[in-house]
Amino acid sequence: MRVNVTVNGEAREADDVWEGESLLYVLRERLGLPGSKNACEQGECGSCTVYLDDVPVCSCLVAAGQVEGRAVRTVEGLADGDQLDPVQQSFVDNGAVQCGFCTPGLVVAAHDLLNRVAQPSDEEIREALAGNLCRCTGYEKILDAVREAAVLKGGVA
Ligand code: FES
Ligand code: FES
Repeated sequence: MRVNVTVNGEAREADDVWEGESLLYVLRERLGLPGSKNACEQGECGSCTVYLDDVPVCSCLVAAGQVEGRAVRTVEGLADGDQLDPVQQSFVDNGAVQCGFCTPGLVVAAHDLLNRVAQPSDEEIREALAGNLCRCTGYEKILDAVREAAVLKGGVA
């Protein structure tokens, strides 16, 4: 089947998609967007998190057919041209990336949090990122990055 979907603001189509294929597979293998990572393919790790109609989802759990006519935003779509989103910049500045496998999902989850809560408490940050696992266990720096992103975004607003 063919799937028509808006990805990062651009109308895209993917052909020869199998009904059981995941959105994650379509993004990575058919549309050339490898930012979202495939770690567990079971909705357990959050490394494949993308926005679907502005709601964060595990793209490994979304069937390709479900996104027909909808809008997806991936980690690649968060930057404004060469200007990284404050969340992305803070992850870089705080060294919150080790192997980087969990990073795209964490960035999208943190981005969503800061859209909903401008100055989240540590508890709110932990809660928002609870579905995103980092096998390198660099959680302290990840928390630092989200705290700093909140300040950066606050400064921009
Ligand atoms: S790859 Fe989707 S949640 Fe782990
Ligand atoms: S940085 Fe390696 S899994 Fe998080």
